[in-house]
Amino acid sequence: KDDRISRISSSIRVIPDFPKPGIMFQDITTLLLDPKAFKDTIDLFVERYKDKNINVVAGVEARGFIFGPPIALAIGAKFVPMRKPKKLPGIAYTLLVHSCNYYNLFSYLTYITSFSVFVICAFVPMTYYYTVSERGCWEVISEEYSLEYGTDKIEMHVGAVQPGERAVVVDDLIATGGTLTAAINLLERVGVEVVECACVIELPELKGRDRLGEKQLFVLVSST
Ligand code: PRP
Ligand code: MG
Repeated sequence: KDDRISRISSSIRVIPDFPKPGIMFQDITTLLLDPKAFKDTIDLFVERYKDKNINVVAGVEARGFIFGPPIALAIGAKFVPMRKPKKLPGIAYTLLVHSCNYYNLFSYLTYITSFSVFVICAFVPMTYYYTVSERGCWEVISEEYSLEYGTDKIEMHVGAVQPGERAVVVDDLIATGGTLTAAINLLERVGVEVVECACVIELPELKGRDRLGEKQLFVLVSST
C-alpha cells in the first residue's frame, strides 16, 4: 500500500504561485498521465468504499469529475455532479437566471411584460410541473462558499438523489474545506447521509479537516 501512496504522491506536480502568488498549486494532471498512479488512486478509494453501502458518489466540478466517476462505476453507485453555477438545466434555476439578467429600464419593462404573460400562461402547467410531474423535483439548489482564492458556488439537481441515500463526496484536494462543506450541505439539505469525504490531496496547514466538523475525511496524500 505504501508503494501505491508514494507513486501517487510523486506523480503530483507542485507549481508555485499559481493561480496567484503564494499558492503552491497541486497539479493532478501529471498523476493522470501515469496510468499506474491513476489506477492506484481509484483502487484505494474503491477498496475503502466498496462494502459500505454507498449509493451516491458526488463529485465537485471540475476535478471531482475526474476521480468520482471511476469510483462510482467500480462500487456500483450513481455519480452525481455538483456543478459550478449556471450549468445545470433544472427548471427553478432557469427562472432565476432570467430574472437576474434584466438590468436596464427597457429590459426591465420587457421583463415585467414578459413575466406577466409568462405567469398567466405558465401558471397551470407550472403548478402541474411542481406538484404532479416528477420533473418538478429537478430543481437546482446551490450553496455559496469561500475558497482558498475567491468565492464560488456549487449546485446540484434535487431529483438526482433520494432522502436516506448514503453518499461519498469526492474531490481532488481539500484546502480550506469550503468546497466540501458546501457539497455536504447540499446533500444534507435533501436528506442524504454523507458518509465521508474523499480527496487525493490534503493541505493540512489550511485546517480544512477541522471545518468539516464531524464528517470524516479520507485522503491519500498530505502535502506540506
Ligand atoms: C480547487 C480544488 C478543490 C477546492 C479546494 O478547486 O479542486 O475543489 O479548490 O479548496 P477549498 O478546500 O479551500 O474549498 P477550484 O475551485 O479551484 O476549481 P476546479 O476544481 O474547477 O479547478
Ligand atoms: Mg475543484
